[in-house]
Amino acid sequence: MVEFPELQNDLIIRAARAGEETERAPVWVMRQAGRYLPEFREVRKENEFFHVCRTPKLACEVTLQPIRRYAGLLDAAIIFSDILVIPQAMGLEVIMDPGHGPVLPQPLVDPSHLSRLASHVDVAKELGYVFDAITLTRHELKGQVPLIGFSGAPWTLMAYMIEGGGSKTFTKAKTWLFKYPTESKDLLHRIADVCVDYLVGQIKAGAQLVQLFDTWAAELSPRDFAEFAAPTYQSIASGVRARLAAANIKDVPLLLFAKGANHAIATLASSSGWDVLGLDWLVDPVVARELANGKVALQGNVDPNVLYGGRDAIEREVKRTAEAFKVGGKSTGHIFNLGHGITPGVDPEDLRWFFECVHKYTKSS
Ligand code: CP3
Repeated sequence: MVEFPELQNDLIIRAARAGEETERAPVWVMRQAGRYLPEFREVRKENEFFHVCRTPKLACEVTLQPIRRYAGLLDAAIIFSDILVIPQAMGLEVIMDPGHGPVLPQPLVDPSHLSRLASHVDVAKELGYVFDAITLTRHELKGQVPLIGFSGAPWTLMAYMIEGGGSKTFTKAKTWLFKYPTESKDLLHRIADVCVDYLVGQIKAGAQLVQLFDTWAAELSPRDFAEFAAPTYQSIASGVRARLAAANIKDVPLLLFAKGANHAIATLASSSGWDVLGLDWLVDPVVARELANGKVALQGNVDPNVLYGGRDAIEREVKRTAEAFKVGGKSTGHIFNLGHGITPGVDPEDLRWFFECVHKYTKSS
């Protein structure tokens, strides 16, 4: 393993342990390196989206932008990349169409198309640029805050690979689940295997926590979620832990964001094998805490649109959320975050106010 500068702020790593009291809640926001920052838009003016992902110097630069701007307020960096680099590594073309989001021009139409995917994915070869970006960023962070790595989850990636982009109804991806359940599971397992290699590679390269994003988890009924999505979380967590143990590498906190799968909080807390569950804003923190029953730490869960509500609304919502997550007045096993990514229209100074409020209201008494 590479040697890195000593970590000066381990708050998020401590808060990622269930039941661990911290002096305040650590905070970061999903998509914190993104278009709401003028310095990010400057970089993107000159560089195509996936070019930024594939160029470690650029990925490192945009990862550090929010850390610099909010020095002393942010408790983690997240490596700049995208969940759709896995479909690319598996052999599918993905284009980032400004204004429309990701497009896969040749999606998987039916199971006969599975043969178009690479039979074996050499993750170090296909995604080594992400590992290089992580190692460079760990050095450049100089130990200020930990670096989070991430991957898309199998169901969300499968949905993109079949739909060819975003979707409102997920008709094509669900056709697969209902018409071709065996082939769907085959595809989900193939993606899960790549996720394990990819997350282990990120941890070896220097990621100090990793998050799995299942953005479209709430599109599945509880039954389909239990059949198609939840088993992949278990196999990825146990696969990552087994591989780290075999290589004599210390475990890192594993964060699962199954967005909107709030019907499953109790089961995910007791049996998914992940350390932290990310919550969207559709679940009340007190209810989520009861369901999680102290078995995992929780992350979230302010509605990202609160950042458009002005300073008073931001302060009110942060205070309310902070209090709801405290246990006996103490910040306990809670990582403060939005319930989904920050959106491009937010004023960066309003985000600064959000961070200041988190520091103020999550303090343990
Ligand atoms: O959080 C971070 O700051 C790290 C970087 C990051 C990006 N995407 C950069 C990005 C992360 C963690 C992601 C994850 C991601 N990508 C998810 C899961 C999280 C979520 O938001 O649900 C998903 C579903 C994607 C796929 C994706 N990438 C979509 C749907 C879009 C377009 C949506 C949009 O906001 O336009 C992207 C593009 C993307 N990924 C951008 C960024 C900063 C904006 C595009 C740009 O720079 O032009």
